[in-house]
Amino acid sequence: MKKPKYHIFVCNSFRLTGEPQGVCNKKGAPALLQYIEEEIIDRGIDAMVSSTGCLKMCEKGPVMIIYPDNYWYGEVTEEAVDKILDALEDGRSVEDYLIA
Ligand code: FES
Repeated sequence: MKKPKYHIFVCNSFRLTGEPQGVCNKKGAPALLQYIEEEIIDRGIDAMVSSTGCLKMCEKGPVMIIYPDNYWYGEVTEEAVDKILDALEDGRSVEDYLIA
C-alpha cells in the first residue's frame, strides 16, 4: 500500500478497553467518520481516515486533526467538514474551526 498524502484523525473517545465513551463520541463522531470517508472518496483526496482515543481537547469536540499539516479542528460538523476539505484541496486551513 502506498502511503497517503494526508492522514485525518477523528476523535471517537475510545478508552483503553476499546469502548467509545466521551464527548466526541456523544457529539456525533461516529457519523462524522463515515461522512469524512465518503467525502474523501467523492473528492478523490489522497487521505486515510482513522479514529482515535481522547485527544484531550474534549471541550472542543468533536475534534479532527489533519497531518502532515498539523491542523487541529474543533466543534466539527458535516458542514465544517465540507469547508475543511474545500480548504485542504486549496492548500489552506479554515480559521473558524482551528484550535489554537
Ligand atoms: S473525547 Fe474527544 S477530545 Fe476528548
